[in-house]
Amino acid sequence: MIRSIEWKGNSIKIINQKLLPTKLVYVNIKTTKELASAISDLTIRGAPAIGVAAAFGVALEANLSKEKSFKRFRLKMEKAISLLSNTRPTAFNLFWALKRMREIIESNKNKEVHHIKRLLIEEALKIHKEDEKICKKIGENGSRLIPQKANIMTHCNAGSLATSYWGTALGVIYTSVKKGKKIRVFATETRPLLQGARLTTWELLLNGVDVTLITDNEAGFIMKKEDIDCVVVGADRIATNGDVANKIGTYSLAILAKEHRIPFYVAAPTSTFDPSIKRGEEIPIEQRSRDEIVKIGTTRIAPDDVNVRNYAFDVTPARYISAIVTEKGILKTPFKKKISSILGRR
Ligand code: MRU
Repeated sequence: MIRSIEWKGNSIKIINQKLLPTKLVYVNIKTTKELASAISDLTIRGAPAIGVAAAFGVALEANLSKEKSFKRFRLKMEKAISLLSNTRPTAFNLFWALKRMREIIESNKNKEVHHIKRLLIEEALKIHKEDEKICKKIGENGSRLIPQKANIMTHCNAGSLATSYWGTALGVIYTSVKKGKKIRVFATETRPLLQGARLTTWELLLNGVDVTLITDNEAGFIMKKEDIDCVVVGADRIATNGDVANKIGTYSLAILAKEHRIPFYVAAPTSTFDPSIKRGEEIPIEQRSRDEIVKIGTTRIAPDDVNVRNYAFDVTPARYISAIVTEKGILKTPFKKKISSILGRR
């Protein structure tokens, strides 16, 4: 397994995911400004990995700060937090991790700045380590839903690259394979940025998992032809009624799965649930640049002046979701009460 992100003290080491699968290049991020642009341009991506990166970003800013007065230190930290929070609007783990980091500052106001700095680094490392454990638990819980022999469809990348180590949707697959289940994965290419083609197939092959790449438009026909046993995807933000925001195209897959009577599973840590959002319609959906659609890489594939919509995520209503797999257990519909009891316990 590879590690998408590591803390190096004076820098954050990440894989440049834009260059995969042709080149495996690590970048050392030395400032929060560099980190903010690495998150915005998807050098690092996937909701849990973005959360870990943001926590490391605050820790980095603290580590580099020479401020001795709490007031000035806090101001610097707030500037970094605000810069990082303006990168990816849908990924809830980003805001969740930044809130945890801010709470460390606020609850230790009376301590010396050098002590708060240490606490911030410790908290970021904790978030990183926790994510690995949580994903392993998601994998363990989710694998109980997977038959001994299964064809599984997945979308985008919710694997090692999108988390600190084990992955969420792919974590379910890795644990199932580890348990000796015979798994074949069908990975959608995931237009426009091809996370499925570039990242999911790359990491599954690296880990010896049987994977077949399909175009996004093949999904329905493959469901009909290939005995797909279930669809497993990750999530960027989950409302308290169980509506799920995930990579654009997830909603269409969920509808297709329902038509073909295929269970549709979402695998996500409870840190992806947004307690302030009641329904999917309230989730802010990121829109990205037109270039991502009118070009593939540097090659233009559409007229320059065509109108474009580039929503990076969509919302799948809870009624299409058979179960949400979390580290705290498998939630089945109706989700509302179960989600509120889980969030109460978090
Ligand atoms: O735009 P991306 O690549 O960050 O989108 C990623 C996804 O949609 C993932 O499915 C989601 O973040 C879950 S990752 C465990």
